[in-house]
Formats: sequence, C-alpha cells, structure tokens
Amino acid sequence: MFLARCVGVEGKVFAFDIQEEAIKVTRGLLIEQKMFDRVKLLHESHSKIASYISGGVKAVIFNLGYLPGSDKKITTQADITVQAVAQALNLLLEKGIIAITVYRGHDGGPEESLALINFLSGLSKKDFSVLQGIYLNQGEFSPYWIMIQKIGGDNG
Ligand SMILES: C[S@@+](CC[C@H](N)C(=O)[O-])C[C@H]1O[C@@H](n2cnc3c(N)ncnc32)[C@H](O)[C@@H]1O
Repeated sequence: MFLARCVGVEGKVFAFDIQEEAIKVTRGLLIEQKMFDRVKLLHESHSKIASYISGGVKAVIFNLGYLPGSDKKITTQADITVQAVAQALNLLLEKGIIAITVYRGHDGGPEESLALINFLSGLSKKDFSVLQGIYLNQGEFSPYWIMIQKIGGDNG
C-alpha cells in the first residue's frame, strides 16, 4: 500500500509473497483503496524478482519473517533472502533505495540476519551506502532495519 501510494497512477509495484493468504489481504486493501491497477501481485518467491522485472527499479521493500496471525513456521529463509536482495541490488537505479525490516525473534531469524549482514557488509562503498537501525535499549533479538542506497553517478 505504501509503495502503491508512492508510485502514483502512472507507476507500477510488483509484490511477492509465497502465501496466498498474504496476497488475498493485500488484494482486498488495494481494491478498497482503488490502487489495484498499479500493483502486480505475484504468488511467488522473492528469489524470482529478476524473472519478473527487467527494467530498473527506484525502490524495494523487504518485510521479512512470518505473516502475523499465520503459521510461524512459514518464514523468509537466509539463503533465499540473500538471493532476492542480490537480485534487487542489480535492478536498483542510481539513488534508488532498498529498505529491509529484519526480525530475529523466530526460528531461523538470527541466521537470516547474520547472512544478510555478512552479504551486505561486503558491498563496495563506492556503489552502495548500507545503513542499519537497531534498538539500543532492547534485546539482542529485537527487530531492526537496513537501508541501502545505490550511489548516483555524480556522487563518485
Ligand atoms: C512479515 S510478513 C510480511 C507480509 C506482507 N508482505 C507485508 O509486508 O505486510 C513476511 C512474509 O514473507 C513471506 N515469505 C516467506 N518466504 C518468502 C519468499 N521466499 N518469497 C516471498 N515471500 C516470502 C511470508 O509468507 C510472509 O507473508
């Protein structure tokens, strides 16, 4: 919904989820808000991003973990998430942004977090700015965000 608002009537959003339940809720919201036309809902893994999108993208949001109120065992997975983020980085236009919310409180969450941090720490600072926002007053398994911006040509 947030991205659908940002892109306006001429823009396009591609939304991936492997659970039909998540797709259904999103479809309902989009129809209610009259924004369904600008969003392509894909019942598909985010590791297939590159198969569905060929041009550059300005922004990507990853909301990791499990679907609230649903099966907590169906979560995003370390290796698949790293593949998906790598593809999103390739598609990102100059000055484009990727925002990732990382949850560590469920099974596999800490491993996914570590895999992402290892991968993103290795990106060239000439090409990308990578920032992390963490709670300083919550536990080691609290959620956090990562923001990545592709450096524009005029920034060196
Ligand atoms: C925190 S929920 C986010 C739900 C919804 N996309 C949103 O942002 O409100 C995490 C979602 O990731 C989905 N998921 C798990 N593995 C996935 C994958 N490989 N590709 C795409 N979505 C996946 C789950 O089905 C779950 O709905």
